[in-house]
Amino acid sequence: MDRLDLMDPDLFRSGVPYDYFAWLRRHDPVAWHDEPAETGGRGYWLVTRHDDVVAANRDWQTYSNALRGSSLEDPRSDEELAFRQRIFVNQDPDDHTRTRRLVSPAFTPGRVRQFAGLARDVARRTVDRLLDEGRGDFHDGCATPMGFEVPAAMFGIPADDHDRMLEWSLMISLAQEPELNPSGKPRPEIQMVAVDYARELFARVRRDPDAHPGIAADLVRSEIVRPDGTVDRMTDDELALFVLVTVVGGVGTVAHTLSEAVSAFVERPQLLDELHRVLELGGPDAECPATLVEECVRWASPAMNFRRTATVDHELRGQQIKAGDKVVLSFSSANRDERVFADPDRLDPWRSPNDHVGFGGGGPHFCIGAQVGRMEVRSMLTEVVRRVARFELDGDPVRLRANQFAGFLHYPVRAVAR
Ligand code: HEM
Repeated sequence: MDRLDLMDPDLFRSGVPYDYFAWLRRHDPVAWHDEPAETGGRGYWLVTRHDDVVAANRDWQTYSNALRGSSLEDPRSDEELAFRQRIFVNQDPDDHTRTRRLVSPAFTPGRVRQFAGLARDVARRTVDRLLDEGRGDFHDGCATPMGFEVPAAMFGIPADDHDRMLEWSLMISLAQEPELNPSGKPRPEIQMVAVDYARELFARVRRDPDAHPGIAADLVRSEIVRPDGTVDRMTDDELALFVLVTVVGGVGTVAHTLSEAVSAFVERPQLLDELHRVLELGGPDAECPATLVEECVRWASPAMNFRRTATVDHELRGQQIKAGDKVVLSFSSANRDERVFADPDRLDPWRSPNDHVGFGGGGPHFCIGAQVGRMEVRSMLTEVVRRVARFELDGDPVRLRANQFAGFLHYPVRAVAR
């Protein structure tokens, strides 16, 4: 089969090429793809099977995030690489382990639960508006506010600054989408503005941690005491980059999962009916099944892939991978692997077990916001199932122009209340 150009963000306007991935999993599970000259990269190995993605995800000694970063595109200069390497998603242990240790106290289950009420409020408020108007863009009106408002509140970003922070986050994470970023090119200057903003936020928190709700105070207080008695804390610079990557990492992934779920309700109204019955049987406080949340993340796979760089020459599925080669782990493909998931293209709300890799395959970079994401997705789906009798399309959905994140840019619906 001819190779698809998976670096081309336009390819994904018509959806994720799941048939192509299925072919690769069967015939060429570690497949070399040349890169078009303008990307500056030589090409990459695409790893498509679930077991290989999981194994590579955990084997950070062989598959490094730090060497060249975790984005598909190669850094265009040493300065850009150096900037990327300051962000912990582009680090390997021990640097990465240090950051994870310092930020983990802010993501404990207890901390996450404190934002459950806010997630319910966002769901109620946005679904109210959709039902009042009877129509709207589910992605813009419900899914994106859910993806943004919870992390924004966690970091204590003042409400007056939400609009600009959301705009920056979308411009950075979805820079290839011309509607959000007309040039379609990376915008380092926007990153700088956002980092400066976050640095000032943390300087204020550090001056008076008790006055700041959310996890920002946890982060400025977090410390590691070394065996020699020295104390290690994150600098304001490190904290600023952490906020940025976390907000950027959280908004789109949650929003895309939710819009994909609603697209399943549009295509299969009986699925929504089945969930109506489940919630009725469970009583007024019943929530959507946790299995539905996991399945939506598997089925949508909003984080399609991450890049690694091989550190040593080695063989994988008969292919000779050389030190320095780019290796792309396809979470989208692994999540549809028929060796692991029966009827993988079908969204099954009761799928169990569900060893999906939507949040990563369990290595050091496993999504730090997974519990936050699960809570947000569950709150919105519960509200939708409680309140909406059926959805219909109200125009053509628009898919995102992006090669690393999958989902809708617009999902216009008519929604009928129950
Ligand atoms: C359904 C929602 C989400 C999905 C599907 C998702 C997916 C992922 C994936 C695939 C990774 C990389 C894993 C790896 O390389 O092994 C990741 C990492 C990350 N995610 Fe999420 N994510 C979601 C929600 C969130 C939320 C809500 C936040 C923040 C509140 C967040 C923050 C992060 C961060 C900071 C990382 C980097 C972790 C590290 O490098 O150690 N994510 N996520």
